Amino acid sequence: MSKITITDLQKMKQDGQKITAITAYDATFAKLFDDEGAQVLLIGDSLGMVLQGGDDTLAVSMDEMVYHTRCVVRGASKALVVTDMPFMSYATPEQTYQNAARLMAAGARMVKMEGGDWLCESIRHLTRNGVPVCGHLGLTPQSVHVFGGFKVQGRDEFHAQEIYRQALELQAAGIQLLVLECVPVALAERISKALRIPVIGIGAGPATDGQILVMHDAFGITSGYVPKFTKNFLAETGDMRAAIRLYVQQVSEGTFPGPEHCFN
Ligand code: KIV
Ligand code: NA
Repeated sequence: MSKITITDLQKMKQDGQKITAITAYDATFAKLFDDEGAQVLLIGDSLGMVLQGGDDTLAVSMDEMVYHTRCVVRGASKALVVTDMPFMSYATPEQTYQNAARLMAAGARMVKMEGGDWLCESIRHLTRNGVPVCGHLGLTPQSVHVFGGFKVQGRDEFHAQEIYRQALELQAAGIQLLVLECVPVALAERISKALRIPVIGIGAGPATDGQILVMHDAFGITSGYVPKFTKNFLAETGDMRAAIRLYVQQVSEGTFPGPEHCFN
């Protein structure tokens, strides 16, 4: 069974086929999501919240990301495996290279970093040295304390324009995939159309090239505050495998996200 590559995702964008991504942190769920056709598995630093019980993602270490990457890689036979660079693991270019190398050695096939044009030097260096990079703009959770909470980003014209500009700069620097989190539908649509590379949305409406969810949210088992953009696929199916099958199906056919999951 051949593995999904960035070239396949690029082709999906060109053909107007939606990409389904989901987070995974262990081999068993990785295998289930892979079996059911998710094209991208993200070892998200959201594990600081959903696995470790933290209020944010800031306490997650490189060692933890390496460990969970190893676990997921063993369960993934097709999907493209992407791992988050955790908080403060890419604060300087030198540190970025060393930490990205560790994630690639653990089996990641791409690394994800949150932020805008200040990352361009690191992105250029990584891609030149064989490390594919995924960008992440909009609500970047590692900056939650700068934002003053988990809030929708790019609501006014000035900030929307800023996110749009950053997306183009990241693409020019060499990112091959972009996650856009919690931005208004119209902004996500504008960015997805402007970029050559696939844009994966979460809380960014239906016009992106694909969708991602935190797996616990897709199963409706997240405790505490449940964001508006998520959907409990387990409620409709009563079975984990069927829930993920439904998620993949609804993303593919464009019925998820619906208007009730969007910000305008
Ligand atoms: O950490 C994570 O799970 C993420 C996704 C929500 C995009 O970054
Ligand atoms: Na993350």
